Amino acid sequence: MRLEKVTALVTGANSGIGQAVTSSFRREGARLLLTGRRDRLDTAEPDDLYVAGDLNDEAFVRSLAAQAAATYGTVDVVVLNHGLQVSSPLMEMDYQDAENVLRSNLLSAFLVMKHFAPLMPPAGGSFVCVGSRLGMVGMPGEVLYSAAKGGLIMLAKGAAIEWAPRNIRVNVVAPGLTATPIIESSFQRRADPEAYRRERESQIPLRRLASPEEVADAVLFLASSESSYITGAVLPVDGGYTAF
Ligand SMILES: NC(=O)c1ccc[n+]([C@@H]2O[C@H](COP(=O)([O-])OP(=O)(O)OC[C@H]3O[C@@H](n4cnc5c(N)ncnc54)[C@H](OP(=O)(O)O)[C@@H]3O)[C@@H](O)[C@H]2O)c1
Repeated sequence: MRLEKVTALVTGANSGIGQAVTSSFRREGARLLLTGRRDRLDTAEPDDLYVAGDLNDEAFVRSLAAQAAATYGTVDVVVLNHGLQVSSPLMEMDYQDAENVLRSNLLSAFLVMKHFAPLMPPAGGSFVCVGSRLGMVGMPGEVLYSAAKGGLIMLAKGAAIEWAPRNIRVNVVAPGLTATPIIESSFQRRADPEAYRRERESQIPLRRLASPEEVADAVLFLASSESSYITGAVLPVDGGYTAF
């Protein structure tokens, strides 16, 4: 088991990718601290600690870190999977929506990193940020989301250098379009869901969406000691979308 005796925080644990990460970490023997905004997490197991709250709120992040310290002492792995996408042409985007996107994808990640790095043991630890292919390429209608995920990459790279002396590694998994329930239901809202799916798939070199489990596999690799000499890296899991 690759995460035996490892304590891991997974944010956005109630989502498609977050759930896949949680299942894979559980299989690999991790002790889990899970967080999301919903009051309850139906997929949590009795041994998991689930704490609900908004990661944009520093008081909540501080209390989450305090609960982690009280329950587990140290935290070895943090998966920053939470995120928020608001699609809008740039000239029509409200300031509040823009602020929400930047806070929910970038500033909240900074808050979690700031409050959880001190909980990592003297031997070190690993942060894995879930970014996006759109953090590396521009996309009409997704400009603020791209800016936030691009910022997340630079947050990770800078932190990787700053915390290397403490053996804290910081990396990014950058998924492409992934078949999560939210993406699948957005396809179903189209006039011709199958035609829309084919159009989206035709833009991806591997001609299909990722599964949440394929993204979780990359997260597991960067969380585990198999990647012990990798830090400040961005691992695209996008079927070749950003290879052009
Ligand atoms: N699915 C894709 O195609 C795709 C592609 C590229 C990147 N990604 C990235 O992958 C990650 C997971 O995406 P997903 O599609 O599996 O799930 P998702 O449905 O977008 O869920 C994101 C999760 O983040 C949580 N969250 C958002 N803002 C938060 C906040 N301020 N505080 C606490 N929790 C917050 C949500 O909690 P609530 O449900 O409680 O609000 C939810 O559990 C995201 O970072 C996303 O940007 C996804």
